[in-house]
Amino acid sequence: MSKVAVVYWSGTGNTEAMADLVAQGVRAAGGTADLVQCNDFSADRIGDFDAFAFGCPAMGDEELEDTEFLPMYDEVEPALSGQKVALFGSYDWNDGEWMELWEQRADEAGLNVVDSVIAKDYPDDDAAAECMRLGALLA
Ligand SMILES: Cc1cc2nc3c(=O)[nH]c(=O)nc-3n(C[C@H](O)[C@H](O)[C@H](O)COP(=O)(O)O)c2cc1C
Repeated sequence: MSKVAVVYWSGTGNTEAMADLVAQGVRAAGGTADLVQCNDFSADRIGDFDAFAFGCPAMGDEELEDTEFLPMYDEVEPALSGQKVALFGSYDWNDGEWMELWEQRADEAGLNVVDSVIAKDYPDDDAAAECMRLGALLA
């Protein structure tokens, strides 16, 4: 079973709640999950894990949060080519375009994106189940 890093940024807790659920999904499927705030993750930790879930809400104008999450992600993405990765995050007023752009970028970088989950604001029951399923895909 896989050791999974669940790496996230969350301003008001919605994506953090999703990260908790993804980690629960990993563990329910028999894997191990480390919840890691994005400031504590860097490319030199990639070798410690078998799979990765990255979480970031829609910020800016359909962008990743650019002071803490994006600098970390810019650094690690080139080193994740071929690795199993899932993406997740919360949004509010648009329709999830930031996640489409993020998935496209990750695909182009050669990551093995298994799936993504988005939640409007705090994850409701359906989104919670999707987060658990996402974790299980990585376990
Ligand atoms: C500065 C800022 C920019 C945002 N930009 C977008 C956006 O482009 N599209 C969108 O759908 N929601 C946007 N949102 C809404 C957040 O994505 C939403 O509140 C989300 O639930 C926050 O997740 P968090 O609790 O993990 O921080 C923005 C929120 C803030 C504060």
